[in-house]
Amino acid sequence: KETSTTYKGTSIKDICNGKGHWSFPITPVNPSKYHYVLYNVPVNLQSPPEPFCAKDVALCDDDHVKMPNSEKNLFVVQEDNSNVIKERWKIINEALKKPIKNFEDFESAINEYNSNLPKFEALQYFFKEDLSQEESDSFFTDMLPNIISLALGLPELLPSGIPLLKQNRNRSLSMSQLQIACLLANAFLCTFPWKKSTAATYPGVNFISLFSAFARPKRNQCICEKLKSICNYFKRVTQNVPLGVVTFERKMIPRSNMPRWDTLDNNLGNTKIHITSEGTIEDNGLGFLQVDFANKNIGGGVLRYGCVQEEIRFVICPELIISRLFVEQLANGESVIITGAERYNNYTGYGDTYEWAGDCQDETPFDVYGRRKTTICVIDATRFDRPKDQFQSSMMIRELNKAYVGFSSREKHNLAPVATGNWGCGAFKGSKPLKILIQLMACSAANRNLVYYSFGDIELMENFSDFHLFLGKNQITIAQLWRFLCQFSIRGLSDDKLFSFIEQAYFDSKKQPTISHFFGKA
Ligand code: AR6
Repeated sequence: KETSTTYKGTSIKDICNGKGHWSFPITPVNPSKYHYVLYNVPVNLQSPPEPFCAKDVALCDDDHVKMPNSEKNLFVVQEDNSNVIKERWKIINEALKKPIKNFEDFESAINEYNSNLPKFEALQYFFKEDLSQEESDSFFTDMLPNIISLALGLPELLPSGIPLLKQNRNRSLSMSQLQIACLLANAFLCTFPWKKSTAATYPGVNFISLFSAFARPKRNQCICEKLKSICNYFKRVTQNVPLGVVTFERKMIPRSNMPRWDTLDNNLGNTKIHITSEGTIEDNGLGFLQVDFANKNIGGGVLRYGCVQEEIRFVICPELIISRLFVEQLANGESVIITGAERYNNYTGYGDTYEWAGDCQDETPFDVYGRRKTTICVIDATRFDRPKDQFQSSMMIRELNKAYVGFSSREKHNLAPVATGNWGCGAFKGSKPLKILIQLMACSAANRNLVYYSFGDIELMENFSDFHLFLGKNQITIAQLWRFLCQFSIRGLSDDKLFSFIEQAYFDSKKQPTISHFFGKA
């Protein structure tokens, strides 16, 4: 439905080389010591993949997720007035096999295998104020028993444990959607053991923080809408077992291997751009490399109040949430690429006005490895409380490198375009003109085209497309643009002057006499 008034630059058809959204290459799933695959390959999409049984079972060591069903996961309970140490998985089983008829039973069951939990005030509001009595009853009679049996199938579905994706290591992890569902059911029932020391560098996946989030009434509503989205996910995966798989890839590039932004001579006009003020990354960027405007703790505030781009994406595609279990906090030169997550929910609104808008049937085709052809690039921008800070060259390099580690690929040809937008320019308060140039430079260095959803910003669409024409016409390179950005930073102007400053600086540089001018060869 695109018309030239709703976008600027190259049409989507041409950005896809006339071959459509699904024509771009995919990364393979080959089990190795760098790619942990937790099911038996190949995947047939007729029945759920069989769990892989490794020779070494690792349910609880420093390189693996501490599993609820590990024998080492112990818990102290009171029996006959004395303290008894028991395996926590046994207590979890006992607590969840008792009848749970209402919110109070649910809260007390979870407290049987956790100590010192905050009150589940948001969850109470959800069941008592937001849902009707009928809806609430149906959750406890129909849905919760299914979530519980999914969770308790953990030892059979993940017999060998889950490797952690630790900082500064290139590693991939592939799991079946059913394994993810089982883990998310455990997260929902708050069964994962949690020690303060590991919690500091892993975001954490237990739903306690969502259940106990209690804020202003408007925000409560947003939490209820998140819970509805999650419940719909559980309804879907317990009624029809998902058959596909998902890959989580942690990527890092050492500082010494990052591009030298001050010397790259890529011509920026050669990067095709499509910029539109309409549509969103997730609705319109099908088959492209879709950017998640992330927090260094993957998923950001998804299990709290947060409800902007990243959190919304995680709630409509809840399989993404499981990354919080094993993806350590992102360092500067790192990104995560997630391939295959399915979309289960529609939504309206944004932030406090987010609302679950019903079930979504994801029509995305599968690749030959059994993953939906949806690839998400998780990159965390820097938060800038003082606008000037982001123009410091060290800061610009940090953001360039971050975008580059997200966009670059071992493949060099016919790469999917990056589908992005105002990365770092909402909650993180960055400058749109600067961030769009940073993303363009990273796209150019990574050999990808740029599809930009300006989220209603028509002025940005027009200004950037004019500026891109200027870059192309004058064959401006990454290194030249880098120098102009550094000059701009010294001048301390406000960012709405950025494009015009660079144009002027370029024309001024042309006017300056050169050595050949003095020798009469100009
Ligand atoms: N598609 C395209 N553009 C969008 C979309 C969308 N679906 N949603 C929002 N935008 P923000 P940040 C635009 O604030 O500044 C989270 O808590 C819209 O213009 O989510 O990088 C993370 O966990 C919006 O203002 O990203 C981090 O903690 C802008 O993108 C933190 O926020 C930026 O969206 C990251 O903040």
